Amino acid sequence: MAQQQKIRKAVFPVAGLGTRFLPATKAVPKEMLTVVDKPVIQYVVDEAAEAGIEHFVFVTGRGKAVIEDYFDIQYELEQMLRERNKNAELTLLAGLLPKAGTASFTRQQVPLGLGHAVWCARDIVGGEPFAVLLPDMIMSAEKGCLKGMVELYEKTGGNVLAVQECDPDQAHKYGIVGVGEAVGNGFRITQMVEKPPKGTAPSNLYINGRYILQPEIFKILETQERGAGNEIQLTDGMLTLAKSQEFSAYKFTGETYDCGAKDGFILANLAFALQRADIRPAIEEPLKTLIASLK
Ligand code: UTP
Repeated sequence: MAQQQKIRKAVFPVAGLGTRFLPATKAVPKEMLTVVDKPVIQYVVDEAAEAGIEHFVFVTGRGKAVIEDYFDIQYELEQMLRERNKNAELTLLAGLLPKAGTASFTRQQVPLGLGHAVWCARDIVGGEPFAVLLPDMIMSAEKGCLKGMVELYEKTGGNVLAVQECDPDQAHKYGIVGVGEAVGNGFRITQMVEKPPKGTAPSNLYINGRYILQPEIFKILETQERGAGNEIQLTDGMLTLAKSQEFSAYKFTGETYDCGAKDGFILANLAFALQRADIRPAIEEPLKTLIASLK
């Protein structure tokens, strides 16, 4: 089997306006909203690190500088923690800090769409295959979604998307794939349809926000016309790339929470809090009582 080029870099597009979370996102990027006690972006960076990613590329925009600060040393805070012997907190912060030189930040000056945000990372990524993780989709599973994708990619090469089952009645809301022959722990993708009209979806497997892409996508995105929502769409670029390259799918079976939407964000908070031994005992009974009291 041919040795595949290692996936070393991951792109995190964090330049969107987050209008579904106004007014909070007037001052706080949605990627910095907290799920239990960590910002949403930290969960996704952790997933990338677990998959062996060595370089983290953030495509930011106006009002997102706090994300760059979050991934840096906070000197005064650490000094204060040292003076107060808060060693556990110091260790926690040190463990989350990316190694010097392994995080890059570039700006998408105008939020023209996800495809355009990915294209803004072209010079930092260069000519190697790379991962894209949508930071508002956070996942809970024994094995991280990107790690499973990298394992599949090592067998298939090419491009790999993560897919997940949805209620067939909801398929019209998502990007849906067609299922071809089995490869490794996944399958070949025969088609991709963005938001198929009701009853026409080729399957109930939706693209859940994780991608491994070959660098040829950048050339395509450079001239990609605006599509749905008048935005430059990554899916449109992938459809062009699929004419000349293979796409495979990794079927993720864990939970995905869409933290870009209020319901997904609240569910993520509840789910991750209930997984925590230090929090669950204090909230489980009150939650049951609260739900039982609903009319
Ligand atoms: P979304 O469409 O979910 O994010 O894009 P949004 O536009 O910020 O959200 P709403 O609809 O206004 O509430 C998915 C991801 O792509 C990024 C977003 O930051 C988000 O993480 N994105 C989107 C960009 O980086 N640039 C864009 O132009 C659009």
